[in-house]
Amino acid sequence: MKVIQCAAFGPPEDLRVEEVDDPLIQPGCVRVDVRACGVYFVDALMVQGLYQFRPTPPFVPGTEVAGVVTEVGEGVTGFSVGDAVMGAPGMNAFAEQAIVPVRALRLIPKGLSFAQASGFYQAYSTAYFALVHRARLQPDETVLILGAAGGVGLSAIDVAKAMGARVIAAASTHEKLELCRAQGADEVILYSEEDLKSRAKELSGGGVNVIYDPVGGDFAEPALRSVAPEGRYLVIGFAGGEIPRVPWNLILLKQCQVIGVNWGGWTMSHREENEALFASLREWMEAGRLKPVEPTLYPLEDLPQALRGLLDRKIVGKAALSLE
Ligand SMILES: NC(=O)c1ccc[n+]([C@@H]2O[C@H](COP(=O)([O-])OP(=O)(O)OC[C@H]3O[C@@H](n4cnc5c(N)ncnc54)[C@H](OP(=O)(O)O)[C@@H]3O)[C@@H](O)[C@H]2O)c1
Repeated sequence: MKVIQCAAFGPPEDLRVEEVDDPLIQPGCVRVDVRACGVYFVDALMVQGLYQFRPTPPFVPGTEVAGVVTEVGEGVTGFSVGDAVMGAPGMNAFAEQAIVPVRALRLIPKGLSFAQASGFYQAYSTAYFALVHRARLQPDETVLILGAAGGVGLSAIDVAKAMGARVIAAASTHEKLELCRAQGADEVILYSEEDLKSRAKELSGGGVNVIYDPVGGDFAEPALRSVAPEGRYLVIGFAGGEIPRVPWNLILLKQCQVIGVNWGGWTMSHREENEALFASLREWMEAGRLKPVEPTLYPLEDLPQALRGLLDRKIVGKAALSLE
């Protein structure tokens, strides 16, 4: 089968398509005939050796797949050959076949294409975990979402709107903001040109209740300064590359909470709660409350271009590899 091989840590352009033996099935796992793979910022970091988890090269990158079960390993219950599934094996996804542990596997909710499904599990679980579990966002509250046209940003717009909240989306280009509006954002901020703090305060009528920040860097301090008294600041990630250092007196003065969000880490110690979280997402999806965007599709061999597009902030919305 064909895979994308990371022979040594380096830029995405160094990745190569290789022909390798089919992987062996493992107990507690299923074999998935891959139809689509989510392409993530995390994948771009991992192949460069810049992610917190550093597999030893050579390895097959790729954190998430969608496809059809073709073989079921020893001890597996709940999945059968022919099921349409999506999974987050953590790596080995950029391949024609993937061996996925069932604890990281879900049946695809009705209404999702393979391409949409390939990017759904991590992005929507992160958004739901952050907004529902961590921030306890309320329907009469306003949430400011940074990097709102990226993977975890768009899913946060969708989840926040499903919760009845008011959404202010911030992104760097007009095209990205148009997509945020189409996803349901009530207001938008072009943070590459507009002053983030003053616009967020103005659009929220004095202060934002919840900040959802997957970007960090120079946007963190103005975002924190726009938070309402007793608001919540969700630390999701650092796509901007810099871990922010903010003046702590702002936290005291605003009496706000800064809340860490690590959905992947949480799932390790909260398996049952994570099952319940996904059951809610499935219910919302199948009831028509969520509308995940269709990703931009690339063939397997064009993964380097897709990853470069993410690193250069050129991708509007989600990206996925299509193997159909
Ligand atoms: N905490 C968790 O549980 C969790 C779960 C999943 C992902 N994450 C993290 O969340 C972050 C975003 O992931 P994602 O999948 O949404 O990524 P993405 O699709 O690439 O979106 C990231 C967004 O960040 C903005 N950005 C600002 N500066 C950037 C820079 N220098 N390089 C690239 N993007 C930049 C871009 O929007 P603009 O151009 O509009 O600024 C981009 O759309 C990552 O750091 C990831 O590790 C955390």
